[in-house]
Amino acid sequence: MSKNQPFPLEWGPATRALRVGDRPTGERENSAPIFLTSSFIFESAAQAQAVFAETEDGNVYSRFTNPTVTLFEERLAALEGGERALATASGMAAITMVFLGLLSAGDHVVVSRGVFGSTSNIAKGILPRFGIQVSRVDLSDPEQWRQAITPRTRLFFLETPANPTLEMANLPELCAIARDHGILVAVDNVFCTPILQRPIELGADLVVQSATKYLDGQGRVLGGAVVGSERLIMTQLYPMLRNTGPSLSPFNAWILLKGMETLHLRMERHCRNALDVARFLEQNSRLAGRVRYPGLPSHPQHQLAARQMQGFGGLVCLELDGKAQAQRFIDGLEMITITANLGDSRTLVTHPATTTHGRLTPEDRAAAGVSDGLVRLSIGLEDVEDITRDLQRSLERL
Ligand SMILES: Cc1ncc(COP(=O)(O)O)c(C=O)c1O
Repeated sequence: MSKNQPFPLEWGPATRALRVGDRPTGERENSAPIFLTSSFIFESAAQAQAVFAETEDGNVYSRFTNPTVTLFEERLAALEGGERALATASGMAAITMVFLGLLSAGDHVVVSRGVFGSTSNIAKGILPRFGIQVSRVDLSDPEQWRQAITPRTRLFFLETPANPTLEMANLPELCAIARDHGILVAVDNVFCTPILQRPIELGADLVVQSATKYLDGQGRVLGGAVVGSERLIMTQLYPMLRNTGPSLSPFNAWILLKGMETLHLRMERHCRNALDVARFLEQNSRLAGRVRYPGLPSHPQHQLAARQMQGFGGLVCLELDGKAQAQRFIDGLEMITITANLGDSRTLVTHPATTTHGRLTPEDRAAAGVSDGLVRLSIGLEDVEDITRDLQRSLERL
């Protein structure tokens, strides 16, 4: 649980990531310490009672109060422009908290078709078991969202840009539709991070992060968070986390805090390298019309990306001729690493159809826009010539 400390609102994102919530202990340390303790001690039974009753502030137990985790929450809330953040053990734990915290049996939620595979599996396989109705719609077609609304619709859930299709939603437009109907909007902002897109400023109620990705940025730890208003986080989500326990470990929070200190610098370089790679790939005659990157004028939503995002991100996708060719291309890469993660300092390659989206039915995969030939590149921080050389050599071998 974060207690959002005041900080100068004129601070920019780089300063927020470095300075919000700084409060050295009596040891006068400069870098925030890790509070690796399961519980906290009380001076008396009466104090224990008061802290448990929340009539006195204080840490109790690291499932729901830990100073290192709190600092991570404060900095992320400040970056996303939300009043409060709730840290979780992973991005999927954050998404689960949103669904379970906001929805009850009989409620209805609209989820975009193009979302991360596990999110899709929750929408299809888990929520209906608890009596929650789910409609799936195209991310970029506001009319479909409007038409999916029923009297029981409580939530729109979407990911923009979507993993791995890089399709986008017009956030102000969708949020206005939701607001007109008293529906909450939750946005998975993993591909952008708050450096490149702040959905709350564009009208969303909640933002979800998989901190595993760019916030860490070096492929070390799992983590996640939900950011939103004090009321939503504290009344709907915090009790769910406190009682069910998918909490962020203080060690992981400390790693994430260190990662976030350089987030703005890394995102700049990810974006620059990704644009260079996308332009390079687009020049290859084999890939004409088959490279997707929001920063390319050929992306059908390039103008929207330019309006809504402060940079085009680090993910580039290309379309090859089916699974065999996609896998041959991936196997032909010598430097770029094959892994299911993204947002790492190293350039990573993934074949979504057989990995991150491999458990979807072929029909659901097609609906999510994940073809067998799709290859996802998470462009890292290496010298861009080394990335393009590796890609070029593997393309030549096809
Ligand atoms: C867009 C998106 N959201 C959520 C997640 C889930 O995050 P985590 O792996 O931290 O649970 C991922 C993971 O790849 C993702 O790409």
